Amino acid sequence: MFFDSHAHLDDLKYDDDRQVMLTRAKESGISYIVNVGYDVPSSKRSIALSEKYNFIYAAVGIHPHDAAAEGAGGLEEIRRLSAHPKVVAIGEMGLDYYRDLSPRDVQQEMFRKQIRLAIDLNKPIIVHDRDAHGEVMKILKDEEAEKVGGVLHCFSGSLEMARECLEMGFYISIAGPVTFNNAKRLQEIVKAIPLDKLLIETDAPYLTPEPNRGKRNESAFVVYVAQKISELKGLPIEDIAQAATSNAKMLFGIKV
Ligand code: NI
Repeated sequence: MFFDSHAHLDDLKYDDDRQVMLTRAKESGISYIVNVGYDVPSSKRSIALSEKYNFIYAAVGIHPHDAAAEGAGGLEEIRRLSAHPKVVAIGEMGLDYYRDLSPRDVQQEMFRKQIRLAIDLNKPIIVHDRDAHGEVMKILKDEEAEKVGGVLHCFSGSLEMARECLEMGFYISIAGPVTFNNAKRLQEIVKAIPLDKLLIETDAPYLTPEPNRGKRNESAFVVYVAQKISELKGLPIEDIAQAATSNAKMLFGIKV
């Protein structure tokens, strides 16, 4: 039983075969998926998917790329959407200093405001961090994000940062890049993350793991992420799948 803790299956890349793709996920043992919004429309689409499929849950939030376009009105809409019973987290939120699609001060402000919203709502957060490790940690600490906890999605920081996150009670989610040949540093970090703090994800349609790198990603491929972690940790894949599933259920408050 696998839990894909981060996917964007509302993406138009699935418009021709979404039902078939989801059936393939179920047949591969994917029992839970969190579909993650990155702006108001995608947050609404995430909720719509969660209404249609009982094994899909939703996260609503504003990605740093979209921080400038959404503004304060977007944040109010996220608050309204978060009342839906299948919304299990706020996000994705954070900082992206790699692509810098919104000004950095706007990204920071939107990140801070969403942490405050999550604390107000008592929901965990899903954090996106690309080339902004120091500033992400500073804001998480400043805003006391440990009050609600959450997950660093597609973790790309250092071992030291991973340890800081674990100390704050955050989970660390591993995506497709762990399967890449040049991911030696991430692979060493995976060995060091305790099993009870680990989540797995696809971030589909992005970050397709080996052996399918270069193709469109989908939730069924989270099995390859689990397989790689099982090799790295020297544990049966069943143990990885079971731990990652129970961790995600605990974090997102899923009881079924
Ligand atoms: Ni994502």
